[in-house]
Formats: sequence, C-alpha cells, structure tokens
Amino acid sequence: METVIRVKGLSKDFVQGSQTINALKSINLTIKQGEFVAINGYSGSGKSTLLNIIGTLDKPSAGEVELFGQQVNFTNASSLQEFRSEKMGFIFQNFNLNPVLTALENVQMPLLLTDLNSRQRREKSIEVLNKVGLTDRINHKPGQLSGGQQQRVAVARALVSDPLLLLADEPTANLDSESTKQLMLVLKEMNKQSGLTVLFSSHDERLLKYIQRTITLNDGLLTDTGSCL
Ligand SMILES: Nc1ncnc2c1ncn2[C@@H]1O[C@H](COP(=O)(O)OP(=O)(O)OP(=O)(O)O)[C@@H](O)[C@H]1O
Ligand SMILES: [Mg+2]
Repeated sequence: METVIRVKGLSKDFVQGSQTINALKSINLTIKQGEFVAINGYSGSGKSTLLNIIGTLDKPSAGEVELFGQQVNFTNASSLQEFRSEKMGFIFQNFNLNPVLTALENVQMPLLLTDLNSRQRREKSIEVLNKVGLTDRINHKPGQLSGGQQQRVAVARALVSDPLLLLADEPTANLDSESTKQLMLVLKEMNKQSGLTVLFSSHDERLLKYIQRTITLNDGLLTDTGSCL
C-alpha cells in the first residue's frame, strides 16, 4: 500500500520567554493508505501538536514530513492551503463551525475552493449531510443543533471534498455513546469504501473496538508505534 504519512525526526519546541517546551521529540512514524489509526497519550503528551503538523497547520522545529510521497515545504503557505483543500479533511475537538451559517452552508465552505458551481456544491453537501443523518437539519445553525449533531456537521464538512486523509483531534470528546458509535461507523464505512486514511487522537476507551492500530505518545516521545498492517 502507498505511504500516506511519513514523519522523520520530527521535533517541535514551543518557546515562551525563558521556557522551552519540547512538545515532540524526534518522532518517526509511517502510516499507509487505508489505515485507521488512533493516537493515544496523556494530556500534554503532544497529540494535537503532531496532528497539527501532519495537517500542515503548524510547522516543525526540526525533521521532515512527507505526505503522499511528497516532502512538505512548510514555508509555502499558498501551496499548503491548496494541498490541504485537495487532499485533507479536518475535524476539530470544538467543531469550529461558523455560528452564523446553517449546517448546509458550513458543509459547503471547503467546496468554495474547488471548481464546482453553486448547484454542484449544494448537491454534494446535501448528499454528505444525508450520509451523516442530518437530512432534516440542513437549514439549522450550530446553536440550534445538539452537540452530536454539530459534530456530524463537522464530519460532513471534513468529508465533502472527498479527502484522501482525514485528521481528527479528539473527535468523540463530549459525545454521547450513540453519537460516538454513529461517527465511528461513518468513518469506518468511508475507510472501507474509498480507502480513506484516518488518523485521530483520542483517549476514549469506547473507540477501542473500531481501531486497527494505536500509537502512543508519552511526553513528546513516541513510545509505541503499534503494528503496521
Ligand atoms: N502554542 C503553544 N505554545 C506553547 N506551548 C504549547 C503550545 N501548544 C502546545 N503547547 C505545549 O505542548 C505540549 C503538548 O501539547 P498538545 O496540545 O499537543 O497535547 P495533547 O496531547 O493534545 O493534550 P490534550 O490531551 O490535553 O489535548 C503541552 O505541554 C502544551 O502545553
Ligand atoms: Mg490535544
């Protein structure tokens, strides 16, 4: 299988005044197409930092990141933006939905960067909202939706541009068991059907049964890379 993520000697230091936090310490990691991987680790172990760098939203202090066989050039902001919108979907812990837009408008946002016309954007977004079970909520704004429903809007937005790689930071934090199960089933189905590679951070034990591979961060060090399939 094709390698989707290759991380070599990746370190991230945060400097604040006289204090330096070594959030990631020379991480090496390979993830292949179609893997379904969880990053596990205590609070502060570096999970979000690693996801943000792999997602090209933050840059490393040292080391290299290769995505889809291409070395990431962290200095070229416009090509990174294009790369992200073509290949990656993100789900953030706090959903990051725009509160003044409806579910449908939120989901359509990533498609504004594509060649699709407004009708195609609308149709595609409705199709994905149907998939996550929100057919009858497309005109609701985030404040009019439950936490689980908002999360599903965020999932639909992440998947609407048919990404090859989905990155999710604690996607099931704050979700009840039924919403958690639904979310995992949608992701599993995409993983199976289109070979979507999924990498997410979580310390949610309810997810264990869905996960193929768990990697563990401990104080910025990768202490377990799980088994490569
Ligand atoms: N922007 C920043 N500036 C300074 N320090 C930071 C910054 N972002 C993260 N850190 C520090 O880096 C370390 C790793 O943080 P990170 O958010 O990656 O942890 P995490 O594993 O995602 O934790 P949690 O489970 O609580 O979300 C922490 O010690 C944190 O305080
Ligand atoms: Mg985090």
